[in-house]
Amino acid sequence: MAVVRVTGRDGVERRLDATNGCALMEALRDANTGIDGTCGGMMSCGTCHVYVDADWLAKLPPKSEDEQMMLDAIGELVELEPGSRLSCQIQVSEALEGLSIRIAPPV
Ligand code: FES
Repeated sequence: MAVVRVTGRDGVERRLDATNGCALMEALRDANTGIDGTCGGMMSCGTCHVYVDADWLAKLPPKSEDEQMMLDAIGELVELEPGSRLSCQIQVSEALEGLSIRIAPPV
């Protein structure tokens, strides 16, 4: 279990218990944060887009080419930031304790 700090689209921060081994997208979706995860983690929808705080970027595994391609695709619809990630590609572990993210606008 890792406690993740999630700032919603309303600007309000909440703490979320995320289960180890799950995709962060699943924890965000199940907690009704506005993340849909429509494709179930297949990197084909972009509805799991989050902004990871700068302090955490280097602690996460790097983006794959496919993740970057999906982000580039949704970049025509929403603003991308250096911390833009697909939360379906972030696996929850103890190492994420305290991770801070913001929910990106819907695509
Ligand atoms: S859940 Fe569809 S791209 Fe992440």
